[in-house]
Amino acid sequence: MTELTSTSPSQEDGHENTPAKLGHSPVAPIPHRLRVTDTDPKAARRAERQVASMFTLSMVFIILAVIAYATIDKFATIYIPVLGEVGTSNVVLGLTFGIAVFLIGAGAIQWAKKLMPDVEVVQERHDMVSEKSDDQLAAAQYERGKDESGFARYKLIRRSLLGALALFPIPLVVVLRDLWITPADSPSPTEILSETLWTSGKRIVSDGTYVPVRPEDLPVGGLVSALPEGIMEVQEEEHNMNARGKATIILVRMDPDQIRSQQGEGWDYNGILAYSKICTHVGCPIALYEQRTHHLLCPCHQSTFDLADSGAVIFGPAARNMPQLPISVDEEGYLIATQDFAQPVGPSFWERDRT
Ligand code: FES
Repeated sequence: MTELTSTSPSQEDGHENTPAKLGHSPVAPIPHRLRVTDTDPKAARRAERQVASMFTLSMVFIILAVIAYATIDKFATIYIPVLGEVGTSNVVLGLTFGIAVFLIGAGAIQWAKKLMPDVEVVQERHDMVSEKSDDQLAAAQYERGKDESGFARYKLIRRSLLGALALFPIPLVVVLRDLWITPADSPSPTEILSETLWTSGKRIVSDGTYVPVRPEDLPVGGLVSALPEGIMEVQEEEHNMNARGKATIILVRMDPDQIRSQQGEGWDYNGILAYSKICTHVGCPIALYEQRTHHLLCPCHQSTFDLADSGAVIFGPAARNMPQLPISVDEEGYLIATQDFAQPVGPSFWERDRT
């Protein structure tokens, strides 16, 4: 056991603040107990093998995560009690990668607890400015710690740890790779976001109740979050929320005289305007509407859109107008879309070409 102590400046000056002077009782030192691995070389070797097995096993789980990512159908689901129906790929990736990370952490802890030097250090408080000699002492301690950690001595551990850490980023690279590479025959992001569930004559229903909306349901200054009729069936059939996200809109009503411009001729209905609810910056849903100014504020990065002026960006990082949906009413007096959005909804990033 090594004990390190340093002398405080107050002691050097002869002004000792000993525990007795400060009114504290001196604390009897607790005897240090050696670990089994300190005295038994066989136990130390056993611990070394234990740690190395954890690092090696973590490599196996990282490889399994990559295999799972490449082979499991992304639409396959599995039933888990309490959670219900969840994506098989997500579950397997989460488990394999999570176990790999856990094993690296557990191996490191075991290594530190069983094999690294078990030193108790006593360091008295002192002024924050270090003496040059303290700096040298710290550097020497660092060097000694480096030697004593056994990084050079325990070759098996060192190699297995380096192997596990080398493989560790692979799943991240594989998964992130898919963010910018898509199969050649798949639609581009622009194509995907250019088409939503809105078609000519599709009724507008309120989000939450799914009841068709009439113009008289919306007072001047009001705002309603809405969706296309039949959204729940589509969502359940296709097992995805993308269709809902792309089609979600807000309806606002203002005095028709206050509408300065729109993205198309007569796209409002008696002062009721429909806009995408998804911010054109990075896609947050927006519903913070100031009825006096007709400004729509995104809570994520404060982009502000003027809904009385074609949804134009008047502040913030968004690069393009909020897409407007042309609307009218059907013969029964319910609000309907007259066509799909004229531009892709969602973040401006998706306007970029895939290549
Ligand atoms: S997502 Fe709306 S401002 Fe960034």
